[in-house]
Amino acid sequence: MDKFVITGGNRLSGEVTISGAKNAAVAILPAVILSDDVCRIENIPNITDVNTMAHILQEMGAGVRFINNTTLEIDPRTVGTYVAPYELVRQMRASYYLLGALLGRYHHAVVGMPGGCNFGVRPIDQHLKGFVSLGATYSLDGGMVDVVADELVGSHVYMDVVTVGATMNIMLAAVKAKGLTVIENAAKEPHIVDLANFLNSMGADIRGAGTDVIKIRGVQHLHGTTYSIIPDQIEAGTYMVAAAATSGDVLVKNVIPKHLESITAKLEEMGVQIEEYDDSVRVCRSGGLNKCNVKTMPHPGFPTDMQPQIAVLLSIAKGTSIITEGVWDNRFRYVEELRRMGAQVSVDGRMAVVEGVDHLVAAPVKAMDLRGGAAMVIAALCAQGTTQIEDIKYIERGYDHIVEKLCSLGADIRRVSVPEASAVLVG
Ligand code: EPU
Repeated sequence: MDKFVITGGNRLSGEVTISGAKNAAVAILPAVILSDDVCRIENIPNITDVNTMAHILQEMGAGVRFINNTTLEIDPRTVGTYVAPYELVRQMRASYYLLGALLGRYHHAVVGMPGGCNFGVRPIDQHLKGFVSLGATYSLDGGMVDVVADELVGSHVYMDVVTVGATMNIMLAAVKAKGLTVIENAAKEPHIVDLANFLNSMGADIRGAGTDVIKIRGVQHLHGTTYSIIPDQIEAGTYMVAAAATSGDVLVKNVIPKHLESITAKLEEMGVQIEEYDDSVRVCRSGGLNKCNVKTMPHPGFPTDMQPQIAVLLSIAKGTSIITEGVWDNRFRYVEELRRMGAQVSVDGRMAVVEGVDHLVAAPVKAMDLRGGAAMVIAALCAQGTTQIEDIKYIERGYDHIVEKLCSLGADIRRVSVPEASAVLVG
């Protein structure tokens, strides 16, 4: 029951280095199962979701060892099961990538229904549809998904919705299938390209990742590789918004500016100055913030994973802004917490109307999920007074050393342990 205690009002300034991308890492780690040899993965973020995935692989028999803080070596040759450990799997959404990876290697996968942040219904029908197109059958029983195939044969798969998870999972299952698989209406997020690049570095034949048609020609073997994960687009965007919210001046380093274009465009529309360099962006705000409307969409649209953070900024902008959530059914759960801090936001289904206020004020709040929690951190950094944020376990699923990084930018943030007994009294 640890919490963050944040005293707002400090302008963030200086430099922050962005870690490897969570949503690439949680797919690349299980993808190692498909390799015939040891893989070395660099730029691994130190976050709970990645540590859980490493733990799952270890429980399944893989050799997993950290070479240094950000480099992991995984030996998949000793994996001896196609059944993923239930208790660990249900802790994270991305455990569904074990389905594609185990199916690709063993033609059989048994994995618990994935857990993760709650944004309403989070179906995996498109993942299963893809596996069936490749020749598999599945059953859902007692909270487990069981997928099996005599052989996997390449096929045409048309995605009914643009889905990151299903696009990556079908790539994993198809990479060693016989013949050609074509995924149409594929998602185009940077982590999809990263997974394809990783698999290609092991000898796969994947073309078109980053467009809406991906072609995968199956190969018989994948060899070991050394691969460095791309920087985290959403972590970078979160620090960009934090800099803007505190009228700061921050150089956000180790980023791919192209991945940040939709975020940069919105910040500029709001009056924030952004300078782009080869692998960094400088974010600086000297005046007030303008209102603007934001609609989240699959890449290259504005990312849903930045929606709560930008909402904080809009809540201190001049005028009324409208946010439309275009990906998830229920991604405004954090709004109630933000309102406690003085924000004026009303939600109607997938739309939120934000009336800008002069400033936010400190309040005891909770992280409702990973990005909602990041939004609370930003709100606390720019609010008057000292905010306490509970349920920080959600934030630590996806933000590497967030306290240290924010402190180095001049924030007043501490992580404090709350004994369970007093936690109950407080709660
Ligand atoms: N969908 C279906 N059927 C499916 C799969 C998805 O209808 O079989 C729908 C979903 O209900 C949703 C939409 O398609 O409305 C998009 O879902 P997608 O599959 O793209 O999401 P995901 O793969 O489960 C990943 C990220 C999320 C991020 C979304 C969208 C990981 C581990 N998670 O989820 O990241 O919000 O893509 O970009 O990669 C986060 O990092 O905070 C996070 C939640």
